[in-house]
Amino acid sequence: MNQDELKAQVGRAALDYVVDGELIGVGTGSTVDCFIDALAASGRRIAGAVSSSVASAARLNAHGIRVLEAGEVEALPVYIDGADEIDPRGFMIKGGGAALTREKIVADLAECFVCIADASKLVDVLGRFALPVEVVPMAARRIARRFAALGGQARVRQGVTTDNGLIILDVSGLAITDPLALETEVNQWPGVVTVGVFARHRASLCLLGTPEGVRTLRF
Ligand code: 5RP
Repeated sequence: MNQDELKAQVGRAALDYVVDGELIGVGTGSTVDCFIDALAASGRRIAGAVSSSVASAARLNAHGIRVLEAGEVEALPVYIDGADEIDPRGFMIKGGGAALTREKIVADLAECFVCIADASKLVDVLGRFALPVEVVPMAARRIARRFAALGGQARVRQGVTTDNGLIILDVSGLAITDPLALETEVNQWPGVVTVGVFARHRASLCLLGTPEGVRTLRF
């Protein structure tokens, strides 16, 4: 099975966590695209979706699935999203698709975060994937210097403006042994909108696509 087939496999498996008649939170990325397509093909009846990006909202709309604004709902039973890396405790790096801020907002509404990922995303220690951080442009250099003091090299992601009109720094060279501490620290830095460490909003469970089938990791 290639990576696309593994993503399709977990996209379908995530249907088991969709609650009929309820709203669902929907993330962003190629794995989530597989889930959206599987949801549409399944004919399952849901009340609608809250999306973490313009791109996912467009895909949901194209399938005729009603999309609500995050501000219109008080809670979601389930949020389904991918990850760039996930560790054995359910901590994640997200934001490869530049949607991390809205992803954290929608995840915050959800009682259960179901991460869907192919097996290449499971790592012992987060940080091989450059950590995305959404920032206000005038603070970018100061934030880059702060990361340098932690041993990281921050680069502005070229040609990308987020759905919020901001920029992304990708920070390489970090070994994130304490995700909660790093998230807490970086959240204090002026100009940081969202850091792509999902520790406070870690996965409740992960559906991991492997050639032998879907593994369910519970955290
Ligand atoms: C977008 C994300 C995605 O979940 C992450 O990049 C994984 O994407 P893909 O499913 O395409 O591998 O965080 O901001």
